[in-house]
Amino acid sequence: MKNLVAFFSASGVTRGVAERLAQAAQADLFEIAPQVPYTNADLDWTNKRSRSSIESNDPASRPEIAGMPDNLAEYDTVYIGFPIWWYTAPHIIKTFLEEGDFSGKRVVLFATSGGSGMGKTQRDLEPSAPGAHWVAAKLLNARVSEAELTTWVKSLF
Ligand SMILES: Cc1cc2nc3c(=O)[nH]c(=O)nc-3n(C[C@H](O)[C@H](O)[C@H](O)COP(=O)(O)O)c2cc1C
Repeated sequence: MKNLVAFFSASGVTRGVAERLAQAAQADLFEIAPQVPYTNADLDWTNKRSRSSIESNDPASRPEIAGMPDNLAEYDTVYIGFPIWWYTAPHIIKTFLEEGDFSGKRVVLFATSGGSGMGKTQRDLEPSAPGAHWVAAKLLNARVSEAELTTWVKSLF
């Protein structure tokens, strides 16, 4: 069984969790890097005209990814991590799902946030990866330990 932890992180919080999860799940690590990185101004959710606000308000928005993993086919389980933006996943996660073939793969979603839960994040993403097996979707604390992540991973399968 081969595992991948793929993550998008705009300010580093989800990255830290993803790195520990990759250890806990004995997984390879892949960064979902935006073709155009987000600046601090882009991330200003108090500005209706910031890039993140405009993208979040546009259901058709699919921010470009710098590159996809070239060996996605090898993985049985793909953990996908991101920050919660406006109560759901940033649209770049839909780009990632739609550019890959996740049919038959186990998909585990994880996120960090400022306090919001996962809400209906999984339901929002499901249409972007038809045929995937949606195993779990969990909000993780920024400081979650590798030991806690190991326990969580064991509980999944
Ligand atoms: C554009 C934007 C929208 C956000 N929306 C939410 C939200 O709806 N609920 C919440 O709890 N946190 C929200 N946050 C906070 C992030 O989810 C949180 O800081 C996250 O841990 C950042 O992860 P990162 O450093 O990996 O990007 C938002 C942050 C940004 C930049």
